[in-house]
Amino acid sequence: MPRITVTVDGVGYEEEVEPRLLLVHLLRDTLGKTGTPIGCDTTNCGACTVLMDGKSVKSCSVLAVQADGSEITTVEGLSANGVWHPMQRAFHEEHALQCGFCTPGMIIAAIDLVRTDPDPDDATIREGLEGNLCRCTGYCNIVRAVRRGAQEMGVNTP
Ligand code: FES
Ligand code: FES
Repeated sequence: MPRITVTVDGVGYEEEVEPRLLLVHLLRDTLGKTGTPIGCDTTNCGACTVLMDGKSVKSCSVLAVQADGSEITTVEGLSANGVWHPMQRAFHEEHALQCGFCTPGMIIAAIDLVRTDPDPDDATIREGLEGNLCRCTGYCNIVRAVRRGAQEMGVNTP
């Protein structure tokens, strides 16, 4: 079986993986990163979104072998020294979640959106998050949270 090295949330791993193993299964089943949920089998929902070398990917659409040599950040790796990432804090303060199932992917996708556009307007946020589905909130608070998170990331990203 192929052997890969990958850094996840700042910790290095070396694993033997089946060639067909998906990154999301490596994260959840092998490394115990269950903060990254699986919401569909069809790469539609975005719940499984993680950062791979700084860019958001749906980890159910990436093979573990494709992540060889890369740096992965899951929602579990966003806080630093017990302090939430500004985007996590914004989701909390704007009540941008109900069941929370979509939230890890939403936050990760939002961080990537702000990387490419530090001051997104509402239309840009809605378009940027169109690959992430929420069945609960109606999206209004999510958009507000991303706008607030973007503002705060400009001043105090950990
Ligand atoms: S679980 Fe990956 S997109 Fe739904
Ligand atoms: S908060 Fe429930 S799916 Fe988004």
